[in-house]
Amino acid sequence: MSQSLATVAYLGAAILFILSLGGLSNPETSRRGNLLGMVGMALAVLATVFGPRVGPSGLAWIVGALAIGGGIGLYAARVVKMTQMPELVALMHSLVGLAACLVGFASYVDTAILLEGVEKTIHEVEIYIGILIGAITFSGSLIAFGKLNGKIGGKPLLLPARHWLNLVALLVVIYFGREFLNAPDVQSGMVPLIVMAVIALLFGIHMVMAIGGADMPVVVSMLNSYSGWAAAATGFMLSNDLLIVTGALVGSSGAILSYIMCNAMNRNFISVIAGGFGGGAPTKKKAAAGEPAQPQGEVVPVSAADTAELLREAKRVIIVPGYGMAVAQAQHTVNDIVKTLRDKGVQVRFAIHPVAGRMPGHMNVLLAEAKVPYDIVMEMDEINDDFPDTDVAIVIGANDIVNPAAQDDPDSPIAGMPVLEVWKAKTSIVMKRSMASGYAGVDNPLFYKENNRMLFGDAKKMLDEVLGALRG
Ligand code: TAP
Repeated sequence: MSQSLATVAYLGAAILFILSLGGLSNPETSRRGNLLGMVGMALAVLATVFGPRVGPSGLAWIVGALAIGGGIGLYAARVVKMTQMPELVALMHSLVGLAACLVGFASYVDTAILLEGVEKTIHEVEIYIGILIGAITFSGSLIAFGKLNGKIGGKPLLLPARHWLNLVALLVVIYFGREFLNAPDVQSGMVPLIVMAVIALLFGIHMVMAIGGADMPVVVSMLNSYSGWAAAATGFMLSNDLLIVTGALVGSSGAILSYIMCNAMNRNFISVIAGGFGGGAPTKKKAAAGEPAQPQGEVVPVSAADTAELLREAKRVIIVPGYGMAVAQAQHTVNDIVKTLRDKGVQVRFAIHPVAGRMPGHMNVLLAEAKVPYDIVMEMDEINDDFPDTDVAIVIGANDIVNPAAQDDPDSPIAGMPVLEVWKAKTSIVMKRSMASGYAGVDNPLFYKENNRMLFGDAKKMLDEVLGALRG
C-alpha cells in the first residue's frame, strides 16, 4: 500500500472514530456508533499492517501477534460477565499504558542514535513524557482493576505527608528529565529513564490507592482519559498521525466524562485526584463524640405479594435500578413488570443516577438490552423533583445512589453527592438481599424510614414473584 493510500485510509478511520463518538452519545444511535468505531479500527489496522512502514519480514510477526492478542481479547470478551465489565475496561487501560512504556523504550533504543539536534531533543521529550503517562496509566489501572473486583479494599490509603511525597516525586521526575536529555549515549540515558518509569509506576499506585470507594467513578473515567493520552504519546513517538488523533479523541472524551462524573458527584476534580475522599474517615469524629454511627429506626420487610399490591394500586411509579440489578440480571423481568403495569394504566418511569452500577451508562445499557422504551428512562436531574408526586418508588439493587445521608449528614463520606430522593415518594420499596452497605461502604438511613419497606432477596427472584402476583 502506498503512503498516500495509507494516509487516505487513516483519514477515513479518524472520521469514523469521530462519528462513532457522536453515535455513542445517545442510546438509540449507540449500536451504530459502536459499529462505525469497529469499521474505523479495522481500516486503521489494515492500513498500518499493509502500509509502507511494515516490510514483508515484519508482517509475519505482526499477524502472529494480532492472532494471539485478538484470540485472548475474543475469549475475554466472550467469558466476561456484564458485572465484570468495568474491571475488564480497567485492565484494557493498563495495557494501553504498558504499550506506551514499551514503545517508548524501544523507540529510544531504535532511533536515538539516528537523530541529532532539535529533532533528537523533541523525540526524547516525547519518549520521556510517553513513558511517564504510560507508566502512571499502567499501574493506576491495575490498582483500579483490583479495587473494582474487590481484591483491594475500597478504603483510601492515606500515607502521611502524601501531597509532599507527590511533590517530591514530581521534582525528581523533572530532575531526571534533564539528566535524560543531557545523556551522551543510549546507555547512560537509560538510567534516568528507568528511574523515572519506576517513580511513575509508584505514583500511579499511590494516586489510585488514595481514592476512596465512592469516588471510583471519577478514577475510572480519568484512567480512560490517561489511556488516551498514553496512546497519543505513542503516536508521537512512532510519528503515527492516526494514533495521535485517536489518542487525543479518547483522552479528551475521557476528560469530559471525568468532569461530568465530578459534577454528578459534586466533587472537585483536583480534590479527588489529591485523594482521601470516600473512605469513611469522618465517622471517627462521630465515634469520638459518642454518637452512634448506625442509623436509627425500624426496618419493615415486605413480601412480593404486598409489593405487587402496592404497585397495582399506584398511579405513578418510579423505578431506580442499581448495581444489584446488574448482578441479578433482572432487567428483562423489570421490563415485563413495566409492560404489565403500563397495560393497567400505571405511569412507570426509570430514574437513572449518573454513577449507578459500576461504569458510566451501566444501567442504560442493561435497560436498552431488555428493550425498555427510551422515553421512560430519565436522568436524575429530569426526575428528582417528581418523587413527592410518586406513589411507589421501587429501588432495585441500588444503595449509595439513594442514600439520604449524602444530604443530611455532613460527616458522611458521600456527603454532598446528589442522590435520588426516593424517600419523598408516598412509599419506597428497596429490593436487596440483606442490610449490607453498597460500594462506598456507608450505612443507609433510607432503610429505616417510616415510609420505606424492604423486599429482601435476589432481585431477579423477587421480581419474578412480583410479576407472578401482578399477572395472577
Ligand atoms: P451500590 O451502592 O454498590 O449498591 C448495590 C446494592 O445491590 C448492594 O447494597 C447489594 O445489597 C445489592 N445487591 C447486590 N446483588 C444483588 C442481587 N443479586 N439482588 C438484589 N440486590 C443485590 O450500587 P449503586 O446504588 O448502583 O451505586 C453505585 C456505587 O458504585 C456508588 O458508590 C458509585 O460511586 C460506585 N461506582 C460507580 C461507578 C460508575 S462509573 N457507575 C464506578 C465505580 C464505582 P445486598 O448485598 O444486601 O444484596
